[in-house]
Amino acid sequence: MAKQDIAKTVIPCPCLEGEITPPGDKSISHRAAILDSLASGQGEIANFAPGRDCLATVRCLRALGVKIRWKGSRNRPTLLISGDGKDGLRESEDVLNAGNSGTTMRLLGGLLSSQPFLSIITGDASLRTRPMGRLIQPLRLMGAEICGRGKDSFAPLVIRGEELCGIEFSLPIPSAQIKSAILLAGLFARGRTVLHQPISSRDHSERMLRHMGAELRSDGNLISLTPLTNSLASISFHVPGDISSGAYFLVAGAIHPSARIVIKDCGINPTRTGIIDVLLAMGAKLKVGNEHVEAGEPLADIMIQSSELRGVEIGGDIIPRLIDEIPVLAVAACMAKGKTVIRGAGELRVKESDRIATVSSELSRMGARIEPLPDGMVIHGGNPLVGAEVDSHRDHRLAMSLAIAGLVARGGTTIGHALAAQASYPSFWQDLQNLAG
Ligand code: S3P
Repeated sequence: MAKQDIAKTVIPCPCLEGEITPPGDKSISHRAAILDSLASGQGEIANFAPGRDCLATVRCLRALGVKIRWKGSRNRPTLLISGDGKDGLRESEDVLNAGNSGTTMRLLGGLLSSQPFLSIITGDASLRTRPMGRLIQPLRLMGAEICGRGKDSFAPLVIRGEELCGIEFSLPIPSAQIKSAILLAGLFARGRTVLHQPISSRDHSERMLRHMGAELRSDGNLISLTPLTNSLASISFHVPGDISSGAYFLVAGAIHPSARIVIKDCGINPTRTGIIDVLLAMGAKLKVGNEHVEAGEPLADIMIQSSELRGVEIGGDIIPRLIDEIPVLAVAACMAKGKTVIRGAGELRVKESDRIATVSSELSRMGARIEPLPDGMVIHGGNPLVGAEVDSHRDHRLAMSLAIAGLVARGGTTIGHALAAQASYPSFWQDLQNLAG
C-alpha cells in the first residue's frame, strides 16, 4: 500500500485543550524560496513550510542550479539559499516536477518564461488536470513561448524562455498564483508591468518583492512593477504560521463542546483572514492578541473556545481571503444553527479536488445536509454528524476538514487517503492527537 493510501480513524474526545503552532505558511515559503534564488547572497528562511508542496518548489529550484541546504528539524526546517543573482538560474537537465502543487507550477511557469533556456514542468495526476490556460494567456501577451497539453492547456508545460515585454493586464479572476507568475515574469521583462485585480487576493509576493528592493507600487487593486536592474537583496526571516493550517483548529475549537485552543505565531495578513471574520460573524468566541510583524508580514496568537455558532452568508470580496478554508468552514456550518450559503466560490471546482463536489459528498456521508451549487453550497446546520467511512480524494484540505468533522461526530470516522495532509501539514495528525489528549 502506498503511504498516501493509509486511512486514519478519528473518534470524538471529551475535551480539546492546548496550544498549536501551525507549520510555516505555504504561500510565503514558496515565494521566499523562489525570490531568494534570484537574489545575491545567502538567505536564511526559518520555519519554512515542511509540506510536500514547498518541497516540490525546492526540488525544482535545485534542478535549476540553486544551492539550497536544510538545517533544523523536519517539521520546523530552516532553508539556506545561496542565490546567484538575477542571472543565476541554469537550464534543468530533466523535466521539473511540481508534484501536487499548483503554486509551484504557476509561479515557476511565470519565472521560467523569462529565462533564456528550455523548461518542461509537469505534476501529479491531479495537477495535470488543473487549468493552466489562465497562466499561459497573459504570459503569451508578454511574448512568452509557453504551451500545454490539449486545447485546455494542461500540464506538462513546455516553456522556451524569451525576452518578454511588460504588459498592462486586467486579471479575469482574483488568483494570487497568476498575479505572482506575471510579476515574476515582469521582473525580467522590458518595460513596466501593470496589473488590475478584480478583487484583491493574497499579497505576499508584493510585500516580499518590496522588502527585497524591487520597485513595486500597489494602490488598491492596481499594481505596478518596474523590471530589475540590480539583483534583489536576499531575505532572511521566520515564516509566520500558516493560517490555512491553523484554520482546522480554529474550527475544532469553535465546534467542540469543551475546547480552548491557542494558535500561536499565526500569520494574520489581512488578505488571508477571511476565516476569522466569518467565525466571528458566526458567533465564535475568538480573540486575537500579541500582534507583531515579521519581514512585512503580520502575525499573532489566536485564542478560540467552544462557541454556539449560527449560519451565515459567505460571498463576494471575502472569497479570495478564505478560499482554502471553505472545506473546514463547511464543517463549522454543519454544526451551526440555521443555514449557511456560500456563493461566488466556483474556483473551488479547480483545486486539488473539485471541492464543491468532494466536500458535499463526503460530509453528506456523515449525515450533513449540503446542497452543492455551481459556485458554492448551501449547508443546513444543526443535523448531528455521525461517524462514517469517508475519503480525502487525495486532497489535503479535505483530509484535515473531515478529521475535524470526526471530532464532533457520533462514533468513529475513518478517512481514506489521510496522509494527503502532508501536502501542507505533515504533523497534522500528531498535533490533533496531542490536543485531543
Ligand atoms: C495560492 C493562491 C490560491 C490558493 C492556493 C495558494 C498562492 O490559489 O488557493 O492554495 O500561494 O498564491 P489561486 O491563485 O488559484 O486563487
